[in-house]
Amino acid sequence: MSALTSREDGRDNAATEVLIDALPPIEPGGSVLVIDDRTGTVGRELTGRSLSVTSWSRLARGSRAGLAWPEEGAYDAATLRLPRSKEALELALHAAACRLRPGAPLWIYGANDEGIKSAHKRISPLLGPVNVLDARRHCRVIEATRPESADGLSTSLEAFKRTLTLTLPDGERDVVSYPGVFAKGRLDPGTAMLLGALPPLEDGARVLDFACGAGIIAGFVARKHPEVALWMTDADAIALAAAVENAPTATALCGDRWGSIQGSRQFDRILSNPPIHEGKGRTYDVLNELISGAPARLRPGGQLWLVVQRQIPADKVMEETFRKVSLAAENTRFRVWCGQGRKRQQR
Ligand SMILES: C[S@@+](CC[C@H](N)C(=O)[O-])C[C@H]1O[C@@H](n2cnc3c(N)ncnc32)[C@H](O)[C@@H]1O
Repeated sequence: MSALTSREDGRDNAATEVLIDALPPIEPGGSVLVIDDRTGTVGRELTGRSLSVTSWSRLARGSRAGLAWPEEGAYDAATLRLPRSKEALELALHAAACRLRPGAPLWIYGANDEGIKSAHKRISPLLGPVNVLDARRHCRVIEATRPESADGLSTSLEAFKRTLTLTLPDGERDVVSYPGVFAKGRLDPGTAMLLGALPPLEDGARVLDFACGAGIIAGFVARKHPEVALWMTDADAIALAAAVENAPTATALCGDRWGSIQGSRQFDRILSNPPIHEGKGRTYDVLNELISGAPARLRPGGQLWLVVQRQIPADKVMEETFRKVSLAAENTRFRVWCGQGRKRQQR
């Protein structure tokens, strides 16, 4: 595990412990919606208190599936781990509140350097005044209450849909996005560079957009080569909801890293602008797994194409993994790498 991931785990553990210590009593048998319980501790603790727990996270983690909107229900309380952007917080507040009974509490918890101290600016306009239940270990627990009236609450993901017109290498395109999706629905310059560097595909080729976000890459490939078979995967079920609209002919699979791709499925080309951040920290864990796991998912002659910021040492893992590695394009900010042919393991 990288040091940066450990720091992220440290924040999750501290925020979760402060929440659990601060939780007011809930009637036994009551129902609680537990949102983005990254450590799994909140669900376990509440189940141990004889409460009925339903979990929701937009992000897939390990074998746990991501879901774009919480299951139907009228819960007696909810917990919400502070999302990683203000827009994602706004969406999660609506999703939580529309599933709570009127008057039910919502506990939002997070670390100071994640923005929990200013979260009330987003919470109060929707849910009214908030209380700080506890503030210690550089974390805070905020209590809000589901108002009696549901006026002003959005009850489905559809309410958050927005469409931007982007200038892509194949012209102007309307692209759908949702809050918290990478690049806020815009074209990332690294993605643009990867699209510009891709050579043509053969008819019938099988292509995977790995960590597809809003499906900009898959959509571009689908328009340019309508005859190829396309898959796309991402951990974020809401990003995937956008990708389905932007690349409707592709098969969408929600999963953590390679989790959604069956071992036997192989591709002629895997394309990616992979994540290099988790929360506030930089981590190469997904990038490394993408590269080391790619040869097993490539058909003979298949290629992995990826774009990363130029200072990221992707070449090292690429050289260790592939027989042939080439730098397909570069500028002052990004590098596009292509790898082909599994390297024999040294004994
Ligand atoms: C740099 S963005 C690229 C998005 C899209 N390919 C593009 O170019 O616009 C990386 C994507 O990785 C996804 N992601 C983050 N962690 C992941 C994981 N563990 N497994 C799969 N996808 C992940 C994020 O949700 C995000 O959509």
